[in-house]
Amino acid sequence: EYLSTATAPGKAILLGEHAVVYGKPAIAIPVSQLRVEVTIEKFRCPDNEIWIDSPVVRLYKNVKDLPFENPLRLAIDLTKDRCTTKTFSGMMIRINSALPIGGGMGSGAAVSCALIRALSTCLDGQALPAETVNALAFEVEKIHHGNPSGVDNTVITYEQPIYFKRNTPMKMVQVGTPIHLVIADTGINSATSTMVNGVRKRYEQDKERYQGIFDSIENLVDKAHQAIEIGDINTLAMTMNENHRLLQAMEVSSFSLDRLVKTAITAGALAAKLIGAGGGGNMIALCTTETTKPVSQALNAIGAVRVFSFSLADNKGGI
Ligand code: PMV
Repeated sequence: EYLSTATAPGKAILLGEHAVVYGKPAIAIPVSQLRVEVTIEKFRCPDNEIWIDSPVVRLYKNVKDLPFENPLRLAIDLTKDRCTTKTFSGMMIRINSALPIGGGMGSGAAVSCALIRALSTCLDGQALPAETVNALAFEVEKIHHGNPSGVDNTVITYEQPIYFKRNTPMKMVQVGTPIHLVIADTGINSATSTMVNGVRKRYEQDKERYQGIFDSIENLVDKAHQAIEIGDINTLAMTMNENHRLLQAMEVSSFSLDRLVKTAITAGALAAKLIGAGGGGNMIALCTTETTKPVSQALNAIGAVRVFSFSLADNKGGI
């Protein structure tokens, strides 16, 4: 018997990943076409327990048999604490995801948001308010990697393009003209924690150099913010290309990512950069309506995984 369901989108960081961990701003957008779906069904089992069925990570387990620090268990425990209803009958939580795990698209935060909403709806008859969903998902993010900026859970909870700075209320970004994008996956998994820790290590070894890189990124993010609002695609392209170079300088790009970036540019993209933690995972290319197709084809031709295009609508709602 069906009890409740909720979905959450993926996300892409247009500019500012990694520097955002150090208090710099970032611009992130939801990727509504790729979603995580959580469905809760009644499940007959002794003691009214909660089970999880998540085929993408090959998990089928009673929640009480997961360690406390398991991100799914933590999301469930935090949600139960916040809900008014404390008694329930056995349930099965099914998690399905079109998002690549560890691909820099915020799969972890998307699972948390969808799970928190589905479970709170199931228990209390309505989902917890967005602010609470965001705060709980942030607690779970801390388990994925020790020092998250909070950008993932925020853009995914609100499903709006955002200008985000640590410990500052996020700002919605107005989109002045539609933005056409292509995302492609290297097919290589990379753990956010490993990449974030790597940057931390290099930062500690040469603070001055890294601080300089972070300052330059901040500059680009602010330029890009303005460009998006006034619909200046060429300036946006310049900032994204420059941001990729700075990510290379931070040693978070990789051979496969750079190969996809080069291929996209050669095929006519205005800009291309890695998105998220890097080391593998995804890249994004800024295109026009005319170049979306040739860029996608070129990326497919060199073996990129799951190439797809989408548009970020302007604030009047058109694409
Ligand atoms: O690769 P993802 O989707 O986990 O994104 C990570 C973004 C970082 O800036 C690298 C880390 C963070 O906490 O903001």
